[in-house]
Amino acid sequence: MHRVVLPETGTMDVWRDAARRLASHDVPPSEIEWVVGEADQGLFDAQPLPAGEGRALKVPRAFLDLADRAILHRDPASPGLLYQALMRLQDQPHLLADEADPLVRKLEVLRKSVRRDIHKMRAFVRFRELPGDGLRRRFAAWFEPEHRIVEANAGFFCRRFADMDWAIHTPDLSALWQDGALSFAPGAPRPDLPDDAAEALWATYFANIFNPARIKLDSMRQHMPRKYWKNMPETAQIPAMLAGAEARVDGMRAAAATVAPTRAAAITDGYRAAMPQAPQVIETLDDARAGCQLCTRCDLCRNATQAVFGEGLPDARLMIVGEQPGDQEDLAGRPFVGRAGQVLDGAMQAAGIDRGRTWITNAVKHFKFTPRGKRRLHQTPNGDEVQACKWWLGLERGFVQPQLTVALGGTAALALTGRKDAMIRRRGRMEETAEGPVLISWHPSYILRLPDAGAAKAARAELIEDLRLARSVVAG
Ligand code: URA
Repeated sequence: MHRVVLPETGTMDVWRDAARRLASHDVPPSEIEWVVGEADQGLFDAQPLPAGEGRALKVPRAFLDLADRAILHRDPASPGLLYQALMRLQDQPHLLADEADPLVRKLEVLRKSVRRDIHKMRAFVRFRELPGDGLRRRFAAWFEPEHRIVEANAGFFCRRFADMDWAIHTPDLSALWQDGALSFAPGAPRPDLPDDAAEALWATYFANIFNPARIKLDSMRQHMPRKYWKNMPETAQIPAMLAGAEARVDGMRAAAATVAPTRAAAITDGYRAAMPQAPQVIETLDDARAGCQLCTRCDLCRNATQAVFGEGLPDARLMIVGEQPGDQEDLAGRPFVGRAGQVLDGAMQAAGIDRGRTWITNAVKHFKFTPRGKRRLHQTPNGDEVQACKWWLGLERGFVQPQLTVALGGTAALALTGRKDAMIRRRGRMEETAEGPVLISWHPSYILRLPDAGAAKAARAELIEDLRLARSVVAG
C-alpha cells in the first residue's frame, strides 16, 4: 500500500506529482491511500512511491482543470476519485465528455461545490480594521469555508485589496497579505476582531445588489446561510434599503417607456416579471446578471430597455468585451446580435473560435443613445459611465476568470486597462493588468464605419489576426 499525504497548501502540486508517478507505474487505485493534511504514519507502514517516471501518460488539459478544483473538496475520497479518472483516461481519452459516467458526474459535483464555495468566500468575507500607525491600513477577517479553498482564493483578495495589509483566518489555514507579499499560516480558532469594520464600503456594495421588491426571507437564508450573518455588518440595513430602493425601481419603470420604442416597454416589463429572485448576495454569474437588471449606478438605466449582461461559457478561457449594447442588443437582451455582431461572428469563425465557448460581454451594460425621429442613435459612453459599469465587468471577470480578455475598441480597452491611449498604437498588443492579460483589437462597428472599402478590409483582416492570436494563447 502506498500512502500519499497531501499538504494544506500546494495540495494540487503534490497530488499531481504523486499521481503521475503512481499512474505511470500502473499502480491500481486500490493500492493507494490518500490523506490530506496529517503527517502521522497511520496504521501501517507505507511503501515509498515508485522511483522515477514509468510509461508516458495522457493528461488532457480539461482533466487538470477539473482536478485543480475537485482536489480542494473536503470529501476524503476526492484525491482517489481523481486518480481513478486519471487511470481510466489512459484508455478512454474522451472519458470527461461522457456526462452519464458516474465517476465523471461525481467529480463534476465536487468541482461545482468547490466553485460555489469560492464564490461564497468572495461574497461573505468581511474585513475588520485593526488599529495601527503604519503607512498601510490593516484588516482582518474570519471565515469558515466548506472546502480547502483559502489558497486558491487568495489571489482574488490580493488583487482586490492590494493596497492594504490583511489577514483572512479560517479553521484550517490563514492567508496573510503584508506589504504586497502573500504567505500562509496554520489555521486558528476564531480571533476576537474589533467591530469598527469598513462598514460604509460593504454597505455600498450591498445596496447595489439588493432587490427590495422581491425580498423573501426564506430564500435569503438559503442564499446567505445564517452561519455567515454574524460576520456581516449589512444584514441590519435591510429595512432602510427596502424603503429607498422601492422608489428607484418605480422610477426606472416610469422612465423606460418614455423614450424607447413602444415594444421596448413591453420587453422591460417582461424581463422584470420573469426575472428570477434577485440576489441579496452575488455568488454566481446568474446572481450578477439578475442584480445588473436593477442597476442604477449611472443614468443610462433610465432610457435603455434592459441591461444586457454577458453570455457564453461561465468558465470560458477567452472573454471578449465590446463597448455597449446597440439598438438590436438593447431589444434582444443579448450582446453582439446586430450588425456589429455579424462582423464579430464572421471574424471569430475565420479565426477558428467557437462563440459558444467564449464569454461575450460589454464594458457598459445599458444602451446609450439619442432619439432621432423613430431611430435611436448610438452615443459613446463617457468615462463616468464606463467607471460605474466596471463593477459588473469586474464581477464577470472574477467569476469567469478567463485566461485572456480581448478588448474590442477604445471603450473596452479603457474599462479593462484604465488607459485611454490611441487605438492605432495599441491594436494587436497584449497589455498586462492585475486581472490578467488584455489583447486590444478593433471594434467591429469601427470596421463598419470605415468609408474606404480597402481600409475596412484591412481592419477586418487585423481583427481576424488578433482573434487568431487570442485563440493560440488560450489553446497553448
Ligand atoms: N457593439 C458593442 O460594443 N456591443 C454589442 O453588443 C453590440 C454592438
